[in-house]
Order: sequence, then structure tokens, then C-alpha cells
Amino acid sequence: MSMVVVRDLQKVFRQGDSEVQALAGVSLDVAAGEFLSIMGPSGSGKSTLLHLIGGLDQASAGEIRIDGRELSRMTDDEITMFRRRKIGIVFQFFNLLPAHSAEENVALPLLLDRRRPRDVRPRVEAALAQVGLLHRRRHRPDELSGGEMQRVAIARALVIDPAVILADEPTGNLDTRTGEEILGLLREANQARRATILLVTHEARAAACGSRIVTLKDGVVVSETTTSPSAVAPS
Ligand SMILES: Nc1ncnc2c1ncn2[C@@H]1O[C@H](COP(=O)(O)OP(=O)(O)O)[C@@H](O)[C@H]1O
Ligand SMILES: [Mg+2]
Repeated sequence: MSMVVVRDLQKVFRQGDSEVQALAGVSLDVAAGEFLSIMGPSGSGKSTLLHLIGGLDQASAGEIRIDGRELSRMTDDEITMFRRRKIGIVFQFFNLLPAHSAEENVALPLLLDRRRPRDVRPRVEAALAQVGLLHRRRHRPDELSGGEMQRVAIARALVIDPAVILADEPTGNLDTRTGEEILGLLREANQARRATILLVTHEARAAACGSRIVTLKDGVVVSETTTSPSAVAPS
């Protein structure tokens, strides 16, 4: 079954008199439980694609279906609610609320979804424990390292038990070793929780986490490769 279906997706940005065609007809099928990597040069449309799939911006044309729901048929409020329940998003620069502690940042998607506080606490603690940061739960982002901030962001994505995780260059601002830890958490979410993952990355090593790599250029898919299982070190 396909978890994410993208058909002929187009996105045009208009700025005054000029137009930028960020996506020029992208089609993609991502199976439930798949780990897909998306590569491509800067400006090729990777972030735009993830933003549209996450319902953070609207397509100019084309279709996006997630878990059978067509985004263009939903109202803004429905998309917001759908995202809160189904989609975890991880950004390059973490996007944490600076004035709030780690646990408050992780609780946010549940509180916005009006879950009862007594249901929220154990889930927040479980998500922070999963990324190894329960002991830092009362710290604010400015008291955490980059790797720790990204782990908080991953806990915030995991706390809803998402069907889909969208990660836009999540290791782009981290050193290699810290980046490996973040990729390990995404792999674990994929393998242990069967979350479908779309990972945008510049790094071939990170892309190799996926079972398939799609490459964008100038807003279209220019290549697609299946990564060899033998390339993964035996455990
Ligand atoms: N909000 C925006 N307004 C205008 N142009 C944009 C906007 N977002 C992206 N673009 C343009 O769309 C193209 C694709 O951008 P983006 O999706 O960010 O690429 P990537 O993530 O692959 O680097 C680029 O030419 C970029 O300048
Ligand atoms: Mg980008």
C-alpha cells in the first residue's frame, strides 16, 4: 500500500514580476513503512516538495495523497489537524520554541490536539527517553547542543506516533558523529515503529539509510536508485 502518493506536482513561486517553478511535475509513490531518501542540488525543489507533502504550503497543480486522503480536498483546518495526528516534521534548524523547555516543545503537538494533560505526560517522557534526553527535559533549547536540539525535535515528531516522518536535511547542521546518531533514531523509527520516512539530504552516507534514493533537479525527478541491501553492514 502507498502511504504517500504524489502526482504531477507543480509549485510556482511568484515574486513581483518573476516566477520560479520550484516543482515542475513531480510524481512519487512511497510505500507504507518505506524509508525514501531525496537528494539533489540546492534549489532543486527538495524543501518545497516536503513542505507540500506536509501541508505547510499549497501546490499550484497536481495531487498529494497521504494514507488515502487527498490534501487538496481538505480545508486548511482539516490539513492542520491531519498533520498534527499523522505527520512528524524534522527541520535542519530544529524549529524549537526557544522560550520553552524540551518537554514543553515535545508536548506541543499533543496539547494543540487537545489531549488531556494526564495522557500527555507519559507520552512526552517516553518520546524523550527514546531519544536519550529524559534527563534534559527541563532545559531550554539554548541550554542544549545542536545534536540535543535535533533529538528534541525528533521526540516532538515521534510523540504523535506518526505514520509519516518528513526530515529536511536533519543532519545538515551537525557534525558527522552527531548526524549519525540522528540518522540512527530515524532508522529506529522506521524499523521499530514502521513509520514511513522521507529524508532530504545532501550527504550520500545519510541517503544510504533509505532503501530508495530519488534525485531531483530543477523541480523534476531525474533519477531513482534502489540501494543494495548488501551495502548495509550486517548486524
Ligand atoms: N517562498 C519562496 N518564494 C520564492 N521562491 C522560493 C520560495 N521557496 C523556494 N523558492 C525557490 O524555489 C526553488 C526550490 O527551492 P527549495 O525547494 O528550497 O530547494 P532545495 O530545498 O532543493 O534547496 C529555488 O529556486 C528557490 O529559490
Ligand atoms: Mg532545502
